[in-house]
Amino acid sequence: MKTRITELFGIEHPIIQGGMHYVGFAELAAAVSNAGGLGIITGLTQKTPGDLAKEIARCHEMTKKPFGVNLTFLPTVNAPDYPGYIDAILDGGIKIVETAGRNPAEHLPRLQAGGVRIIHKCTSVRHSLKAEKIGCDAVSVDGFECGGHPGEDDVPNMILLPRAAEELKIPFVASGGMADARSLVAALAMGADGMNMGTRFIATKEAPVHQNVKEAIVAASELDTRLVMRPLRNTERVLKNAAVDRVLETERKQGENLKFEHILNEVAGVYPKIMLEGDMEAGAWSCGMVAGLIHDIPTCQELITRIMTEAEALIRGRLAGML
Ligand SMILES: Cc1cc2nc3c(=O)[nH]c(=O)nc-3n(C[C@H](O)[C@H](O)[C@H](O)COP(=O)(O)O)c2cc1C
Repeated sequence: MKTRITELFGIEHPIIQGGMHYVGFAELAAAVSNAGGLGIITGLTQKTPGDLAKEIARCHEMTKKPFGVNLTFLPTVNAPDYPGYIDAILDGGIKIVETAGRNPAEHLPRLQAGGVRIIHKCTSVRHSLKAEKIGCDAVSVDGFECGGHPGEDDVPNMILLPRAAEELKIPFVASGGMADARSLVAALAMGADGMNMGTRFIATKEAPVHQNVKEAIVAASELDTRLVMRPLRNTERVLKNAAVDRVLETERKQGENLKFEHILNEVAGVYPKIMLEGDMEAGAWSCGMVAGLIHDIPTCQELITRIMTEAEALIRGRLAGML
């Protein structure tokens, strides 16, 4: 399949694996890229720019295909060493960066001077248009159903994607709730040039996370996610567990007085325990409603081949047959 996204990134299939904290290591990025999609290493999971440089080098050993790095711009007081991470990206020969979070404008000149293409992930049409205006090459439009941070507008992809198509000139991929061939064909019909998946790629053989995490996703239904940190305007969609129940209870009790410190233990620094040790009650972790559509743990190659084969059958068979 050829779309503006496959052309832009030099990939075979219009399928991207979004950056994911403590999931997007070299093993997963390489597996997705080797299967013809675009794998992405999560920059900030690497504690220092030097660690990111090593992770990029490891990924180059595992694939000769293009892969990218995610840089998430957090609303924190003590900002990570972004210029250092960008050095690692440029020195590592990376040509694709997925930015997310705050406006990446101040970092674009250096990245783009190094020949890097930028896909910015955002959750609204207005932020997508801003990304286009500051010179991003593409956007990843993340609907309300997505795992992670869906923003505060709560517009699901059935509306958000066609709205993005009405306004944007640069290509975009659909993100949030994407799992299979039906997602891809629907996203293309709504004007996207491909899709970005997070949760679906965690439940794959190569994702270097604990088996408990993969099984929790397969066991979950579309009813099992919750939104935490809404009162702080830092909403995150997570899988329901005991820690999440405690966060929601604290949010209810504190009301307007809620501060990040009240829920810190449940939401900060918990990823290594969950993703690496498989302690599923250790805290809140991002997961999309799409868990309801995930019933197996295939290899990335099996997953991507299945999606592309079934997408072709859907388009040539079911859709064309209706005309
Ligand atoms: C466990 C997990 C961790 C994530 N961490 C990040 C992150 O560090 N940076 C980022 O930009 N997006 C992050 N995301 C969002 C994904 O890149 C992607 O946009 C989202 O998962 C898409 O929704 P889906 O889960 O319905 O496919 C994360 C998602 C999950 C599920």
